[in-house]
Amino acid sequence: MRRQKRLGILTSGGDCPGLNAVIRSVVSHATLTYNWQVFGIPYATRGLLDGKAIPLSIHGLDLRGIDPLLNMGGTILGSINKGDTLEHIDEIVAGYNALGLDALIGIGGDGSLAILNQLQTAGNWQFIAIPKTIDNDVALTEHVVGFDTAVNTIVDALNRLTFTAASHDRVMIVEVMGRSAGHLALHAGIAGGADVILIPEIPYSIQDICLHLQELRDNWGRKFAIVVVAEGAQVAKDSSCCSGCQKPNCGMGQYIASEIRNCSHEQLDIRVSVLGHIQRGGIPSALDRLVATAFGKAAVDLLFNGETGKMVIWHNGKVEAASLDAVLAQSPLRVAPDDYLVETARALGIYIGIQ
Ligand code: F6P
Repeated sequence: MRRQKRLGILTSGGDCPGLNAVIRSVVSHATLTYNWQVFGIPYATRGLLDGKAIPLSIHGLDLRGIDPLLNMGGTILGSINKGDTLEHIDEIVAGYNALGLDALIGIGGDGSLAILNQLQTAGNWQFIAIPKTIDNDVALTEHVVGFDTAVNTIVDALNRLTFTAASHDRVMIVEVMGRSAGHLALHAGIAGGADVILIPEIPYSIQDICLHLQELRDNWGRKFAIVVVAEGAQVAKDSSCCSGCQKPNCGMGQYIASEIRNCSHEQLDIRVSVLGHIQRGGIPSALDRLVATAFGKAAVDLLFNGETGKMVIWHNGKVEAASLDAVLAQSPLRVAPDDYLVETARALGIYIGIQ
């Protein structure tokens, strides 16, 4: 009798909503369609290093007939962020071999996938990647797991903040994540009705922001404002700052607040909200569940067809595969200054940095 194929699956890097929906899809499809055994590797490469694997079966994924993984945030496998180093490459490969795995699915963002790509080459693994990140900075794919939910979480926060801002004629500064990319701030800022969106790719001028806020009050009768600030926002080099353009050690939102306070001569009533890891939590949106489920199924099919070194991508409305090397060569994907959404924001009178 032929030995059942042993498939490993791990989640690496920062968690996001939809990871468990990917695991559910992989386990269901691999076991029901191909009769493979699936093993969850706890804490990404650390699990491989320690030679740990948890058998996963579709029967173990439900709770009194309810399937919690589809809508459960986080990852049941655990994950590590920044700890995923290549220092222990030989031990990780040895751990993988000791587990007797025939193939591996790695769910990660660009940083984790770069490490897993080197490991799969070193270990000659059959490996397929699935992109996830709230930063949306993985190249060559129209969707990644987790981004849509994070955008919705921010939009919900902006909706709430708008009413309290309007009640007190305040400027609300909302700091959002995204690392070196502004996709999260841009998408959520437009969808949430922001007046100012600051992203790492387009430098801003504090003077321009203050003028814009003044104009909103004087010409548009909008006495409050919503300012969405990406954590990696950049001041323009030749723009004079009120507090000397020091790199903030207080967080970008607080820094922008103090800059606006100075420039407006304390005329504006400003409050800061740092959304932080709330953006990574919560139940996955319908879109993230769909993307997660379709990606999981596609990854299993790719392995069945003998493919390796590829990442599943969403392209023109369907799931395809791209070479992981090609994806990583263009990641992290940043917002292009002529991005259609940047133009859209400007067309609507949103301040989005220096043109
Ligand atoms: O990459 C996802 C992300 O949430 C970034 O947006 C953020 O900068 C970073 O991870 C936070 O990492 P940590 O959870 O390690 O603080």
